Amino acid sequence: MPRYLRRQIMLGAAAAAFGLTFASNGVLSQNKVRVGFSQSTTSEPWRVQFNKDMRREAEKNPQIELVIADGQDRTDKQVADVENFIRQKVDVLLISPKETAGLTGVVNKAADAGIPVIVLDRGVDTDRYTQFIGGDNKMIGDMAGKYIVDLLGGPGKAQGNVVEIWGGMGSTPAQERHAGYAAHVDKESGIKQLLNRQDADWKQDKAYNIMATALKAHPKIDVVYGHNDPMAYGAYLAAKDAGREKDIKFIGIDAIPNEGALWVKRGFLTATFLYKTPGADAIQQAMKLVKGEKIEKKLTLDTAVVDTKNVDAVLKENGVSF
Ligand code: FRU
Repeated sequence: MPRYLRRQIMLGAAAAAFGLTFASNGVLSQNKVRVGFSQSTTSEPWRVQFNKDMRREAEKNPQIELVIADGQDRTDKQVADVENFIRQKVDVLLISPKETAGLTGVVNKAADAGIPVIVLDRGVDTDRYTQFIGGDNKMIGDMAGKYIVDLLGGPGKAQGNVVEIWGGMGSTPAQERHAGYAAHVDKESGIKQLLNRQDADWKQDKAYNIMATALKAHPKIDVVYGHNDPMAYGAYLAAKDAGREKDIKFIGIDAIPNEGALWVKRGFLTATFLYKTPGADAIQQAMKLVKGEKIEKKLTLDTAVVDTKNVDAVLKENGVSF
């Protein structure tokens, strides 16, 4: 049987299950749920995984018509994408904003238009959204801070020079990952912070450059804390090129199985902290919403450290061979 026919029959069965009718062009003729997702960028592996998780969940339900717009890492593009979804009157708007300030206005605009908004991963400066889904970045920063203090000798005794490489400073994850970490590290008189707020905008190549400069200026660096794995890895590569990677411990965040977790396994990173994508949850919550169920204002995704103690299990669980 041709593939399109098989697909048509499958869709038909699903439509029947939902009590829907099927138009002759093979498209569900009613009760479609139009979900517009404004993604900040797809130039980072975590974002690619995020879209994949969302699509996979949406494909389970033929009622959902999901459109993903790529903001291409530009606030103006992302604003235009959201305005487009508002004009199209999508049933639910999902947004993972590049930064807080520039994207708050369009979230308010969607609320004015009566479109429910679910904000994902990075926050906005208004509470006129229906739900926020994301990891607890303050807690992740807190766990990373504790981990680093322990690596350097433990509370009250820690000694060492630390480089922190920031994600986008105008975004809530970077601010919170810093705050949680600083609460521990700032208490330690033996820890010296070498850089003053260096923003690599979540990018590996920018982190490489920041680290290359830091390596030239500082003969002793003990730990690098990157606000995500690509930046921690970029810093690792800079240290490797300078022949100093063995003297330094690199800590990141995200723990994507094929990326950060694998870098831990290979010994490039000492640890990373799981930052699950909210892709699947976003679709589940959007469907609850359109069915009229009440959803909570905030849904927090859990985290865990990934280091040599559990990395094999994490990789196995995710089917990554190593
Ligand atoms: C991807 C990313 C992730 C990070 C998240 C924070 O764009 O930089 O690596 O955990 O965004 O919002």
